[in-house]
Amino acid sequence: METYKEIVDKASKYLITSMLTKMQPIAIAEAKGATVKDVTGKEYIDCFAGIAVINAGHCQPDIVNAAVEQAKKLVHACTYVYYVPKAIELAEKLAEITPSSLQKTFFGNSGAEAIECAIKLARKYTKKPEIISLMASFHGRTMGTLSITGQAGRRKYDMGPYLQGISFAYPPYCYRCPFEKEYPDCSLLCARSIRDVIKYCTSNGVAAFIAEPLMGEGGIIPPPPEYFKVVKEILDEHNILFIADEVQSGFGRTGKFFAIEHYGVDPDIMTMAKGIADGFPISACTTRPDIGDSFEPGDHLSTFGGSPVSAAAALANIDYLLREKLSEQAAKKGAYIMKRFNELKEDNDIIGDVRGKGLMIGIELVKDRKNKTPAAKETTKIRDLCLQKGVVIGSGGVKRDVLRLQPPLVISNEQIDRVIEILVDCLKQV
Ligand SMILES: Cc1ncc(COP(=O)(O)O)c(C=O)c1O
Repeated sequence: METYKEIVDKASKYLITSMLTKMQPIAIAEAKGATVKDVTGKEYIDCFAGIAVINAGHCQPDIVNAAVEQAKKLVHACTYVYYVPKAIELAEKLAEITPSSLQKTFFGNSGAEAIECAIKLARKYTKKPEIISLMASFHGRTMGTLSITGQAGRRKYDMGPYLQGISFAYPPYCYRCPFEKEYPDCSLLCARSIRDVIKYCTSNGVAAFIAEPLMGEGGIIPPPPEYFKVVKEILDEHNILFIADEVQSGFGRTGKFFAIEHYGVDPDIMTMAKGIADGFPISACTTRPDIGDSFEPGDHLSTFGGSPVSAAAALANIDYLLREKLSEQAAKKGAYIMKRFNELKEDNDIIGDVRGKGLMIGIELVKDRKNKTPAAKETTKIRDLCLQKGVVIGSGGVKRDVLRLQPPLVISNEQIDRVIEILVDCLKQV
């Protein structure tokens, strides 16, 4: 096998990458459950799951077997040349597990592709062109999805111009409230201000409002409990569709099967990817039949979308997540982690905020609690130290000061305790 250095040298010669250069990533060889192994044989606890993808655990045997058995029969067909039974079966399953009004699905390969479909569907159905999104949101890296992403820091500069007709509303970011209020005495201004965005920033032509039910890349930001109810009322007043981007928050990660279930609101369109097939590439845009049927033949297509192999993996994955009640496990394990870090706040001034739902957890680090000065360099350092000590964690946030814990939902209690121990050690070191 090649050495680590040979792999790194070859990668820098042949890969176009956006890998963060300061980070020294490991070269991964294999993985099982919540453990990954590098090419030197060193083991790590995986607390990032390939950016919240591997919900059922790495190489879960039932899921891998379902994909292998399917691959022996049919690898590719293309859903616009053939009826592909596995893809149709998956669409039926999604109709069953998503909110009941959502019945029809378009399949793509990545989260961004699902969102491109949602934007096009919303425009075609409403015959209106504009979209409202949130500041601090993240929806992907294609030109369309970057246009509706509310973070210039995600390399939006240098690559425009972007889509026109996009407005951004303030995010429901309680720790750094844009209105400098405290929940619950804030009257949900973040939600109510969407009415002003419609009135003052658009030309009465808004097709849809898109939001992540739990914002991921922006720094693991759960909106307040009433947020989506207030927003939906405003949207309904203006005949604006609600697109819930569940690409990162779906498939049990937040303690419910979909994060929007925490809010008691049904979206008109839901986008899914990441956790849908435990690592096999497939994404879905699921919507009401009347909205889905607004596409005419040829309006939207994807050659690889709805791959029978990925669809078989997705079906086995959904079955496994439900059978093992992994949402409930995520809720319990996440509550324990957040409780421990809230207790640790007392002795660790650097911890500004601990938040999230289930196993989608953010720890925002600050230089001083009073001014909430972001501890961005420290966050990167802690992430890298954790890696050296055998734990893969993520970092992010609009201010780059959020540690992200998003492990496979099958992570064991012993592994969780070890992660906390190592993380505390790294926090103290920094
Ligand atoms: C909420 C959300 N939407 C969309 C995307 C884009 O997904 P993909 O990278 O699969 O295109 C991401 C990726 O991180 C995401 O977190």
